[in-house]
Amino acid sequence: MGRTKRLRSIKKRNQNIVAEKCDSAISLYHYMRQFGWKNEKKLTCLNFSTTGRGLCSKMTILEEDPIIRLPLEAMITIATLENDQDFRDLTEDLANFDTKVYFQSLLALYVLFQKHSNDSQFRQYIESIPSSFSTPYFCQSDELYFLPEIVLLQSVDQNRKIRESYTAMQTALGSKLCPCCGLQYFKEVFTLKDFKWAYFAVNSRSVFVNDYEIQPLVKDASRAWVKKILCDKPDMALAPFLDLFNHSDAALTEPLIEKEDNHLHYQLITKNSYQPYEQIFISYGNLTNLKLFTEYGFSLDDNSNDYFEITLVDIEALIKTEAKFKGVFFHSNKFKFIREHNLNDQMFIHATDGLSHNLQVVLYLIFKEPSHFPNVLNQTAFGSSVVFEQSVEDEARLLCLFKIKEYQSFVDSLVKLKELSSSGQASVVFLKHSISYLQKYLDKFV
Ligand SMILES: C[S@@+](CC[C@H](N)C(=O)[O-])C[C@H]1O[C@@H](n2cnc3c(N)ncnc32)[C@H](O)[C@@H]1O
Ligand SMILES: [Zn+2]
Repeated sequence: MGRTKRLRSIKKRNQNIVAEKCDSAISLYHYMRQFGWKNEKKLTCLNFSTTGRGLCSKMTILEEDPIIRLPLEAMITIATLENDQDFRDLTEDLANFDTKVYFQSLLALYVLFQKHSNDSQFRQYIESIPSSFSTPYFCQSDELYFLPEIVLLQSVDQNRKIRESYTAMQTALGSKLCPCCGLQYFKEVFTLKDFKWAYFAVNSRSVFVNDYEIQPLVKDASRAWVKKILCDKPDMALAPFLDLFNHSDAALTEPLIEKEDNHLHYQLITKNSYQPYEQIFISYGNLTNLKLFTEYGFSLDDNSNDYFEITLVDIEALIKTEAKFKGVFFHSNKFKFIREHNLNDQMFIHATDGLSHNLQVVLYLIFKEPSHFPNVLNQTAFGSSVVFEQSVEDEARLLCLFKIKEYQSFVDSLVKLKELSSSGQASVVFLKHSISYLQKYLDKFV
């Protein structure tokens, strides 16, 4: 997106700023000051009517300004874990087990470990983390019936990772007792329910950091015990206060780690400008609404990074339900060929750019190609002579209408439920955004 559009878009989103004072962050300021943090940009936490809790500045913020400069000591990084002898005593045994854990899971355990401690230096930060999240993972069972398959698949994958990590830690550390209260850690102190909360806290509130940049904070580098228990790189960090910034597709921010007064600082430089009290947004990445919803529990109206993913199951369901295809035979060789050549990956509809290449090829093979012989399918799919998009436009439109109808029926069923959880409410919003997105594609043909 060009700079002008980005700026206009930010302005548009902040018309009629309606925001209330937010007290939940007050003790977080005290937490930050312990580490010598100066609120140079006069950041203020408000509850915005559009996004919920977020940050603005009392000052004008200019393009290229650092919007925040966090001392790395205030963040929870690999170095925090390396330096924590009590946490080492709890988790070091994991190194003797075959199953290694994801750093995200270890960070989640660390959050629970600190939450349980009576004298945690991170208490004020941990108390500032929301007590629940609106990702579809936390939908109630009656809401799950009305979620698209593609969303359910993501939640199943998240569940697998959470359960695998929790079980690995429980197996290795199950008998350990907490020295402060004598309770068994993995029975009475860290329940699976708590772990799920902590996992999503880390998922939605951490930033990317290169672990070598954090290395100077490790007090005794020769001990380096954390990496021995990990199956991935420790390149995430919890960033107190910075994690109060909300995301916008129109925002552009760049991270920078810099040394100042002999301390390392994590900075975010904005490429936008903001008026006093206008909400300041950062970018969590060029993320689609599906990704925002499944990882962060929200979606954006008119998200400029969006596209709509299609699965082969969607096309098979269309064939089963659409009157036009009644009695038409679709040879199974075609579906086999598509799966064997992974043509069903990267199938999506873009509201303005149209169909992805693979979706064009797949629709053509299924609906237009007269032959079902692999050598012909191969020539059609990978030769250069066929122009696909226009010839499959009718089928693409039918597919869109089919998905709109399906998503609308999910919305209707969800709003009929007695009570919707915050995840259920976020699901309704996500489904409505998806419907408008597909409608935008269809409007091209009017
Ligand atoms: C890093 S936190 C940002 C601060 C958060 N609003 C809070 O009160 O702690 C990320 C979470 O904020 C919310 N969020 C971020 N950007 C948003 C937006 N544009 N609209 C609605 N919610 C948003 C989502 O719940 C997301 O999981
Ligand atoms: Zn205890």
